[in-house]
Amino acid sequence: MSAPAYKIIDHTYDTVVVGAGGSGLRATMGSAEAGLKTACITKVFPTRSHTVAAQGGIAASLKNNTPDHWTWHMYDTVKGSDWLGDQDAIEYMVREAPAAVYELEHAGVPFSRNADGTIYQRPFGGHMQNMGEGPPVQRTCAAADRTGHAMLHALYQQSLKYDADFFIEYFAIDLIMDGGKCVGVIALCMDDGTIHRFRSQAVVLATGGYGRSYFTATSAHTCTGDGGGMVLRAGLPLQDMEFVQFHPTGIYGAGVLITEGARGEGGYLTNSEGERFMERYAPSAKDLASRDVVSRSMAMEIREGRGVGPHKDHIYLHLDHIDPKVLGERLPGITESGKIFAGVDLTRQPLPVVPTVHYNMGGIPCDYNGRVMTIGPDGDPETVVPGLFAVGEAACVSVHGANRLGSNSLIDLVVFGRATGLYLKENLTPNGTQAELPKDSADLALTRLDHFRNANGSSSTAEIRTEMQRTMSLHAAVFRTDELMVEGKEKLAATYQKMNDIKVTDRGLIWNSDLVETLELDNLISQATVTLHGAQNRKESRGAHAHEDFPNRDDVNWMKHTATWFDGWGGKGGDVRIDYRPVHEFTLTDDVEYIKPKARVY
Ligand code: FUM
Repeated sequence: MSAPAYKIIDHTYDTVVVGAGGSGLRATMGSAEAGLKTACITKVFPTRSHTVAAQGGIAASLKNNTPDHWTWHMYDTVKGSDWLGDQDAIEYMVREAPAAVYELEHAGVPFSRNADGTIYQRPFGGHMQNMGEGPPVQRTCAAADRTGHAMLHALYQQSLKYDADFFIEYFAIDLIMDGGKCVGVIALCMDDGTIHRFRSQAVVLATGGYGRSYFTATSAHTCTGDGGGMVLRAGLPLQDMEFVQFHPTGIYGAGVLITEGARGEGGYLTNSEGERFMERYAPSAKDLASRDVVSRSMAMEIREGRGVGPHKDHIYLHLDHIDPKVLGERLPGITESGKIFAGVDLTRQPLPVVPTVHYNMGGIPCDYNGRVMTIGPDGDPETVVPGLFAVGEAACVSVHGANRLGSNSLIDLVVFGRATGLYLKENLTPNGTQAELPKDSADLALTRLDHFRNANGSSSTAEIRTEMQRTMSLHAAVFRTDELMVEGKEKLAATYQKMNDIKVTDRGLIWNSDLVETLELDNLISQATVTLHGAQNRKESRGAHAHEDFPNRDDVNWMKHTATWFDGWGGKGGDVRIDYRPVHEFTLTDDVEYIKPKARVY
């Protein structure tokens, strides 16, 4: 099939970063600072990327408010991951974390301060002192409850300082692959409808998660996993997609995030009997247990009839005992969100909350240099995909394994964004010679674009999207059973068939949000599908994957990463293939030993 004729505007760069959240900006900044000709393509204005919504803070063992050590941070992260995290990558992240935070401080992030002028750090779930043996540690560096917002501004300014070129409100459609190597990307300028072909030595995918595959999520509507969709269409696998994090405190009904920092500052949860039920589920860490544990406990309380409200379907978060001055200083954002989205004055009333989809532990498999990995034709699970990198929530390094600790996301963004920039500096030549692009370089992107642009079927994008989201919310929820997941897979396959009968009403190219939402839906539904297949395939419970038919962790059979391929574009049926990559049971240096698996209690 020959590609439809569209005029193409060509660009050549050393590095093209797709996405301008925390990780994309940090990689952009590093690449540009290294003297590489760097472009950043982003579908939203950089300071409006979803990192803007990160509230509570960024984890690093600065020991400003309590004793701490990077080995304690490592232990907590490994335990939080339920031993699915790769310990070499975890060691890299926690060791680099303090320097990464000081770098942000020097770049202008207005962190909250202690009386002695040091960065203020608050407690967060699952972060403990003394290798899990001590009380909660204060490790999460905060700029009130607007940490991500502050970071985006500083990182965008730094990227501009180093002369990176920004292509803002450009939607990346597909990668350009040449014999297994990534050599660029095709994008649509949404503002004027022009098509752009970026040729580059390196493409860094920093496109975030795919939270919008669910009906209610703390994620922005822009979180459609565009990088993951592109990777699947390039015939590459995604990793550990069955692990979807539910944040314990999304505002009931609205799904808006209420930071874990609220419990870090002393907030607590109660059921319909006014009981602080977390004392039963996690006697030591209580409300500051890890997110999967707290979300499951809330779901159990609701399931057993102790939820609050007329339908007994949510839980109360109390902050009304905290000094309003402290709330005003440390949690101003959520105080406002409580008023706007729940009509609640947090200083006097409890807030209705419910576990809400928040984060994808799974994503594009890569190493701690950001290099994308696949399983090679010879079966080597560490086969590098030349030219392709992934960072941030789009990536699966894997430092979060089966469950991410709160505030380990922001540190992941900057540590691995920086690491990728350093790798590019070492390995790319500024203005280096690049091979000619293959003749069919734009075919996949333009054929897809044209197909959806002219789609004239009977189901609207919104109808298909809602159907997918409802299936995911019901069949890949906090608790899963085999029966539910098998049924979910069947429903989703039927929904996927409707993509062949989709209707797009706007045929234009300028600000065609109908078309862009359809391309986003195409990205979402492939990832929703591999999520459900991966979940139904994993016969154990681990971290965020709570399989009721297999309630225990099974290290003998399942301490391995799931790799999933999706065969779904160009009239194919959406088949899923599954294979496995080993968990890295080794550390990066001899300074620390591999942490052996044990029972995970809080
Ligand atoms: O609760 C929060 O502030 C979210 C932080 C995170 O997901 O790391």
